[in-house]
Amino acid sequence: MARLENWEGNLFVSDLSWGDNGKGKAIDYLAEQADMVCRLNGGNNAGHTVDNQLGKFILHLISSGIFHPHVLNVLSGNVVVDPGSLVKEIDHLRSKGVAITGKNFIVADDAHLIMPWHKRRDQLNEVARGKGKIGTTGRGIGPTYGDRTERTGLRVRDLVSKDFDERFDEEFKWQERLVRLMSAGTSLRGRVTFVLGELPIFSQRFRPFDRKQILEEMHQAADALRPIVTSVIPIIYEYREAGKKILGEPGQGALLDKDRGTYPYVTSSQPGIAGFCAATGIPPKEVHTIGIVKAYFTRVGEGPFPTELKNETGAHIQKVGVEVGATTGRPRRTGWLDGPAASYGANVCGADASGLTKLDVLTGIKELQICSGYRHDGRIYTTAPGVDVEFMNQVEPVYTSLDGWTEDITQVTRYNDLPLNAKKYVRKAEEVIGRPLEFLSVGPSRRQTILL
Ligand code: IMP
Repeated sequence: MARLENWEGNLFVSDLSWGDNGKGKAIDYLAEQADMVCRLNGGNNAGHTVDNQLGKFILHLISSGIFHPHVLNVLSGNVVVDPGSLVKEIDHLRSKGVAITGKNFIVADDAHLIMPWHKRRDQLNEVARGKGKIGTTGRGIGPTYGDRTERTGLRVRDLVSKDFDERFDEEFKWQERLVRLMSAGTSLRGRVTFVLGELPIFSQRFRPFDRKQILEEMHQAADALRPIVTSVIPIIYEYREAGKKILGEPGQGALLDKDRGTYPYVTSSQPGIAGFCAATGIPPKEVHTIGIVKAYFTRVGEGPFPTELKNETGAHIQKVGVEVGATTGRPRRTGWLDGPAASYGANVCGADASGLTKLDVLTGIKELQICSGYRHDGRIYTTAPGVDVEFMNQVEPVYTSLDGWTEDITQVTRYNDLPLNAKKYVRKAEEVIGRPLEFLSVGPSRRQTILL
């Protein structure tokens, strides 16, 4: 029997590359068997697409487990929360008939709040970086985590406390001063507009924050969130002690990990097993970690991408795979499956197994390539020794060519029914990732999943 058919204990669905590997769908599928789904890191920079009987959803902060009424979904204390965005997401789900109560969704009271000044600082930092910009989502993720590390900022428990206005005012004063100074600094550099993708977002002249309006929005969010804010660690522990099944859902992927990713082109949190354990208190030995890899690679924003395809095939994959950032709408860069990067990602994430998604997107491409090694300085690496920017920019991918297939595979439900060339592709992918494959995905809906 396939291991995932009846998974036991705690299951962590990690992402072995730069995110967007189809975690949303995998979690939606696997949550059927779960008692709890815990989102561990990141914020509304993430965008998880779920396509099920209720429609198509792009979730940013709420776990895909929300579509299973028996599941308790947890937004962990290591997530950064934009209160307005969270409330909007809750309202949207409710409007589509998804019930959200304290019984199926709770928010950690020790998570940090993303405030308007964090977003502004994120954008100003990008301007200051100039050509070296990271290509962030502009959602204020880095500055909020920065403040948390600096041991400052507001948390969810402040938002719902009766002293919020007082704490807010203290914060407001110095954050406004900081943004004023940063704005002066960036305009001195002579850059007039901040550009996200192709869009000019704002001019550099300092625009004051509207204290009254922000406060009003925060009060509204506090009223909406108060019933679901709680201390989540004791609840997670209770579930763990009772032997209930906990599923972990990260935002982003291993190669965007702040410590082990393609630094500085990374996000500011830990999407790997360390992030799951830190967010839940569950020790790694109690977790089965499955690393998801897309049948081809994508990346949003700047940073190295050794197998990138800047040609017609890349454009074809981008179009067929609808590879557009779920949060920012930016087209994703596309490339061949990168084995050395994925197996490094598996090492970083502590993955014991793998899952391959969006195989159907490759249907019809005559000749496929999988990167099975990096050539660098006279050596071949089948697993990247690290993903340092300098190293990644220097490596020469070594490819294995495989014949493609033309048959429609979107209705296939058993591995044996896949075309021979698709099977060969899958086995090569498994070999280069270096972790046994436990599932394949051949389309966006739950039933388009093949367990191995
Ligand atoms: P930030 O997380 O907004 O600070 O952006 C840092 C980098 O991570 C940028 O390259 C973003 O495009 C990337 N990033 C952040 N969240 C996601 C995601 O959910 N999927 C893919 N890339 C992401």
